[in-house]
This record gives sequence, structure tokens and C-alpha cells, in this order.
Amino acid sequence: MQTVLVIGASGKVGRHVVAGSHAAGAKVRALTRDPLRATGRPATVVRGDLTDPRSLAAAAEGVDAVYLMWPFFTAAAAPAALDVLAGHAARVVLLSSGSVDGTIPAAAPIARFHAEVERTVEQRAAEWTILRPAGFAADSLDWAASIRAAGVVAGAFPDAAGAWIHEADIAAVAVHALLDAGHDRQRYALTGPQSLTMAEQARIIGEVTGRPVRWQTRSRAEASAQLIAEGWPDEYAEVALRVQEQLTHAPAEVTGTVADITGEPARTYRQWVADHADAFR
Ligand SMILES: NC(=O)c1ccc[n+]([C@@H]2O[C@H](COP(=O)([O-])OP(=O)(O)OC[C@H]3O[C@@H](n4cnc5c(N)ncnc54)[C@H](OP(=O)(O)O)[C@@H]3O)[C@@H](O)[C@H]2O)c1
Repeated sequence: MQTVLVIGASGKVGRHVVAGSHAAGAKVRALTRDPLRATGRPATVVRGDLTDPRSLAAAAEGVDAVYLMWPFFTAAAAPAALDVLAGHAARVVLLSSGSVDGTIPAAAPIARFHAEVERTVEQRAAEWTILRPAGFAADSLDWAASIRAAGVVAGAFPDAAGAWIHEADIAAVAVHALLDAGHDRQRYALTGPQSLTMAEQARIIGEVTGRPVRWQTRSRAEASAQLIAEGWPDEYAEVALRVQEQLTHAPAEVTGTVADITGEPARTYRQWVADHADAFR
């Protein structure tokens, strides 16, 4: 039986990696900074912090494969963390970002640190797989409070078309890369099954929840203030808007990688909304 260490186990993708690895027969260790919040998972919960390499050593002891996500806007802590993780586990599967492939030049500042983490993984891990997802369908949870309160989504770029991916599909690919042979030294561009504009996303949320959702176009300055209020660092709020502007002129491309690897079609955005409908009601 293989043992998998899941970093970011409480996160959007990580929780599905825990469940999927367990369902596939692996022993799962779920890493968190706060074990008290992490009860009830099909996993042994271990305390650890990516900025404290010593805390990773016990967590990684005897592990075959690590699912690694990178929750920072800098790669500074990556070499020390990877020295420990790759020192214990032969295989590292990294959740990176589709921005790294350069097809959305506006995303370059985000691509930069993800690319650096990728290089760190590739240099240190005996076996590695890099997952490069498109924008998460789950990013639209940022709209949930406004939809619940007023049935409104406000933003500057209603026609920005992303290939929004369901977090469960990223996790399903991760589980194959963690547990199966044949994924070493692969970089997978992962997307949802279609490119959809943000206004179309808002409409679909309304259709699925049964409460109409109206798009309200805001100025760029207002949209930036909104992102900063949601917790984005100022610099990255501007990057996010430039990405949306670019996706308005050049819709995101769709890949078939999820289906190729999992054998199941990538979940639609409509399916994602159905899976999270309560957040919008
Ligand atoms: N959103 C998008 O559109 C998009 C697109 C492409 C790529 N990505 C990438 O996806 C990643 C986010 O993944 P996600 O959405 O699954 O995560 P998430 O839901 O944002 O969860 C964050 C996770 O990070 C863990 N964490 C935070 N600080 C930590 C630390 N110091 N040490 C150890 N763990 C720590 C948290 O664990 P605890 O709190 O339990 O410790 C939590 O599980 C980011 O790298 C992002 O750049 C996102």
C-alpha cells in the first residue's frame, strides 16, 4: 500500500486529493498548520508548515509520494521545503498554474514564482509531475456574498472567457499522478471542457440556483478595490485585472488532458455550480 502526504489538505483541491487517494487504496497523511480544524478526514492528520522545514520531516517520514500546493506569492521557501520533502518521498506532484505556459502574458508575475517552484521540484524530486490548471471554477465563490445579498456579480470584464476547471478534476489527475506509473516528468495543462465568459458564469449560477443573477459592469478602479478588499495583494489585483482584460480579447484555450488521464470528461461549470449551489443561496 502506498503512503501519500497531502499538503494543503484542507484546501479546495487538497481535500479532494485526500478523498481520492483514500478511495484508490492509499494510506493518506493530511498536512495542516492547525490539526484541530482538520478532523474527520479519511487520513492521518499531521501538523506542518511549509515555512518550517523541520516540521515537514516527521510528516514526510516513510511517504512514497507528496501532493504539494504552493500557497505563497513567492518561491523563497521552496528549496528548503523541497530538500525535506523530496529527501523522503521519491515522487512529488505539484499543483502549479496554467500561467506558466506563457499563453496569458499578463499573468507573468504569477507565472514567475510558480515557474520557480516548478524548477525547484524538478531539480530535487526523483520523480515529478507538474499540474498546470486554468482558472478555478471555484474563483467564483468570491461572488457568493454579493449574489446572496443582491443577486449581483460586479466586475470590469464581463466578456473575459476562461476555461474554468472544477477542483475535483485537478485532484482526480493528481491522484493518478501520485499513485500510478507513467506520469513522471510530465507537465499537464488542465482545463474545464469549455471556455465561458464571466457574464455567462453569472447567468449559469442564476439558472442553477433558481434565482436570477445580474452582471453589473464596474470601472477598473472599482474592480481593483473589490479584489483588494477580498484579500488580494495590490500588485496581484492589478495582474488579475490585466488577465481578465486579455481573456476578453483572447479566450482561454481548452485542453482534453483531464479526460485523457482520468477517463472521464472534465466537469462543466454548470456541474461545479450544482456542487456548490448552497454557497450562492
Ligand atoms: N485560483 C485559481 O484560479 C488558480 C489557478 C491556477 C493555480 N492556482 C494555484 O492553486 C493553489 C491554491 O490551491 P487550493 O485552492 O487548493 O488552496 P486553498 O483552498 O487556497 O487552500 C490553501 C491551503 O494552503 C495551506 N497552507 C497555507 N499556508 C500554509 C503553510 N505555511 N504551510 C502549509 N500549508 C499551508 C492551507 O492549509 P492549513 O490552513 O490547513 O494549514 C490550505 O489547505 C495556489 O498555488 C494557486 O496559485 C489557483
